Amino acid sequence: MSNVAIIGAQWGDEGKGKVVDLFTDEADIVVRFQGGNNAGHTLVVNGDKTILHLVPSGALHPDKLCVIGNGVVVDPEILIEEIQTLKRRGHLVDDEQLRISEQAHVIMPYHKAIDLARERLRGKGKIGTTGRGIGPAYEDKVARTGIRFVDLLEEDTFREKLQRNIEEKNIYLKAILKEKTLDFDKIHVSYGRYREKLRKFVTNTGLLLDQEMRAGKRVLFEGAQGTLLDVDHGTYPYVTSSSTVTGGACSGSGVGPQHIQQVIGISKAYTTRVGSGPFPTELNGPDGETLRREGAEFGATTGRSRRCGWFDAVGVRHAVRMNGMTGIALTKLDVLTGFKKIPICTAYRYGSKDLHEFPASSKVMHGAQPVYEELAGWEVPLDDARNFSDLPVAAQKYVRRIEEVVGTKIILVSVGPGREQTILLKNPFES
Ligand code: GDP
Ligand code: IMO
Ligand code: MG
Repeated sequence: MSNVAIIGAQWGDEGKGKVVDLFTDEADIVVRFQGGNNAGHTLVVNGDKTILHLVPSGALHPDKLCVIGNGVVVDPEILIEEIQTLKRRGHLVDDEQLRISEQAHVIMPYHKAIDLARERLRGKGKIGTTGRGIGPAYEDKVARTGIRFVDLLEEDTFREKLQRNIEEKNIYLKAILKEKTLDFDKIHVSYGRYREKLRKFVTNTGLLLDQEMRAGKRVLFEGAQGTLLDVDHGTYPYVTSSSTVTGGACSGSGVGPQHIQQVIGISKAYTTRVGSGPFPTELNGPDGETLRREGAEFGATTGRSRRCGWFDAVGVRHAVRMNGMTGIALTKLDVLTGFKKIPICTAYRYGSKDLHEFPASSKVMHGAQPVYEELAGWEVPLDDARNFSDLPVAAQKYVRRIEEVVGTKIILVSVGPGREQTILLKNPFES
């Protein structure tokens, strides 16, 4: 019996939500361990679309426990809205189904104000953040000035921390960022309301997970963002502010590494990225447009159009190694139907050198040119394929070649957004 981590192998939006929803059948508990409502995870069940930002993607299964771990930064207003929307749609009927770590940090209005103002000031050099206050909330956590749920629940602790923080943030907002200051009373009242709405969900989730795992329950760890957006291992500084890799699943949920037996990387059959930063295989011409159109590549959180390009094996190979991935779920293979030739980037050319490993230097990444090998395309739609043998031979060869160049097995191929549009080659929970 395995516990499984689902980790993005690219720059996010790989289809983690779909795969988590699918594997939730095999699990008892789904845990988010990092990020916040910068994430947008799309689930399509019987043609019905749900986009989740904070609640784990197990939420559409009535009998599964959903945990927001200590590593997540939570905007309480957004979480309350998401819970209410799910309840209106007949999910999360039992409040016992959702648990929030008492150690998870709370996103405050000044985090959002700082995030947005800094992006405005950066102008062309902006990171292209989601504007949800994620970076500033993690900054406060590391600076030891953050407000956790346990602090929010203690009225006096909350008042004291908010007073201190507001004083400092208002100076920063006014003097440095040239922004309006924020009002203590307004925030104090609204967060007091959030406290009362969320109190019943807050607990020691690390302890809860330990108890459940001892009782034989199986856990699915749901990553947000992707390895190339990881604050240590991604395209720094064009990254998010959390540990998106497998290691983050342990620190972000309070469980030891021996509890994660399988790590499934989620990768599109091509590449996308939202926001700024280097992207060696990006296509700015008609092929990029085709990928965007056929793949409906528009952000699930901000609605921004996603930058599109060919599959980048250098990045995914890096993700496989970094995360100890035991398999890859390859999504959106259907989107490649119709291309005569499909290039795969196997190395980067920088100056006169071929680079086979993901470079740390932002300068090198920005100057990296893709080295491609070309594979034959196919013409038939794939969305009805349910077995590997249903795929045209060229598509089978494409999948097998990706397996070779990234160095791990493909355990699942996804051919459409729906739960059923899936070819499962190996069930990671049975490993
Ligand atoms: P996540 O953030 O990794 O959960 O991914 P998103 O939900 O942001 O983006 C993935 C998008 O692709 C969503 O709109 C999914 O419904 C859709 N999707 C997932 N798998 C497939 C697939 O195999 N084929 C197609 N065409 N769409 C897919
Ligand atoms: P899911 O979980 C794609 C990107 C932003 C920006 C950078 C920093 O749906 O895959 P942030 O607001 O986190 O400080 O922004 O990270 N980004 C994502 N891109 N999918 C996501 O989440 C993302 N979350 C953040 O576009 O470039
Ligand atoms: Mg997404």
